[in-house]
Amino acid sequence: MNNRESSTPVTIRWAAGGTSALILDQTLLPNVREEKELATLDDFIEAIRSLRVRGAPLIGITAAIGLAALARQAAAEGVSADEFRTRFDGWADRLEQARPTAVNLVWAIRRLRARLKGASGSAGELAEALAAEADAIHDEDRRMCRAIGEHAATLLRGGEAVITHCNAGSLATGGIGTALAPVYVAAEAGRRVRVFADETRPLLQGSRLTAWELSRAGIEVTVLADNMAGSLFATDPPDIAFVGSDRIAANGDVANKIGTYPLAVLAHRHGVPFYVLAPTSTVDLGTPTGADIPIEHRDPDEVRRGFGPLLAPEEAGVYSPAFDITPAELVAGIVTERGIHRPPYVDSLAAAVAGAEEERRGRPIGRDAGSGGSPSRGRRHPRTGGRRRA
Ligand code: MRU
Repeated sequence: MNNRESSTPVTIRWAAGGTSALILDQTLLPNVREEKELATLDDFIEAIRSLRVRGAPLIGITAAIGLAALARQAAAEGVSADEFRTRFDGWADRLEQARPTAVNLVWAIRRLRARLKGASGSAGELAEALAAEADAIHDEDRRMCRAIGEHAATLLRGGEAVITHCNAGSLATGGIGTALAPVYVAAEAGRRVRVFADETRPLLQGSRLTAWELSRAGIEVTVLADNMAGSLFATDPPDIAFVGSDRIAANGDVANKIGTYPLAVLAHRHGVPFYVLAPTSTVDLGTPTGADIPIEHRDPDEVRRGFGPLLAPEEAGVYSPAFDITPAELVAGIVTERGIHRPPYVDSLAAAVAGAEEERRGRPIGRDAGSGGSPSRGRRHPRTGGRRRA
C-alpha cells in the first residue's frame, strides 16, 4: 500500500496541448476503463450532468479545467481581452447550472471568476491565469483529501468494519477521496479495515465505483443492496460510518447521495458513530440549514430502467431525488482538512472555512489542521466520538 497515492485512478487530466481534458468515464465502470476527451462547453456540461464525472470535488475540478480549456481555445483564436471576458462569463453562467446540489461546482467557478477579475493583460495571459487557478484547485483538492484521511484515520484502530454510501473515494475527487481517504491511510499504515459499500440505487455508485476502487487497492469490500443495511446493523453492525457530502449547511446539516439519511438513522438507532468527511470547499456558509439546500431530481428512467430493461411500468410515477439531507444531530463529527469538528457545528465550520481561505492566501493546506471544533456533547466513545453501543 506504500504507493497508494501513485496508483489512485486519474479522474481528470489535461489532454496534450492543454486546450481540452481527458476524463475517466465513470458511466462505463467497472466494465470498461476508458478516457473521454472533453473539448467544448457542451462536452463539459454533458459529462457533469450524465455523471461521467461525478462527486462534488471532482465536479468542481472539472468545471475549473473546462473553463481554462475554453479560455485557451479563445486565446488561440486571437480574441481581444474584452471579448475574452464576455465569453468567459457566458461559459461560467452555463456551467454553474450543470448540477444544482454539489456546491463545489459554484465554489470552483467563483474562484475562477475572482482570478479573472484580479488579472490583467492579453487574452493569452488571462487564459494562463485561469489555467493556473484550475491547477491550484486540483492540487489543493488532492492535499485536502490526504489531510481528511489523516485526521479521520485517528478514528480507526484497525480491524474495524466501515460502512459507506455512494462513492466518496478517489473517483469523486482529485486525490484519495474523502469518506474512503481514512481507509486508504489506515491501509498504508498496515491496519486492516473492511468496508461495507451500499450499492446506492439507482445509479449504483457504491457497487460500480466504490467496490471497484477498493478492490483495485486490495481493500476488502462487501457490497450490499441498500435495503439490506437494516439487516446488517441488526445482526452484525459495522463499527463506524463514513460518508461524503455534496453540500454542508452552516449549521452542519448535510446533503449527500440519496440513502445517506436512512443510513444515518440506522446508525443512530444502533449506536454506530456516523461521520461526514468533506473538504471545506463543500461547506456552504451561505446556506443556513439543510432545508435551504437545492436538491437535484433526476430523469425518472434512472429508476424505471436503471441500466437495462424496464423495471416499472412506463405509466408509473417516479420519485427520484438524487440527494437527501441528514440533520446535524445525527452526525457524530464532520471531518474537513482542518480537523475533526464536533457538534454544535456553526462556529467550528465557520472557523474552518475562514482558516482555509486564509491558508490559501498564505500557507499550504492541511499542515496545521487542529480539532477546530467545540467540545463534544454527551457520552461519546473516546476514539470514535460516537455513542457507545447499548
Ligand atoms: O450523484 P453523484 O455520484 O455525483 O453523488 C456523489 C455523492 O453523493 C458523494 O458522496 C459526494 O459528492 C461526495 S464525493 C467526495
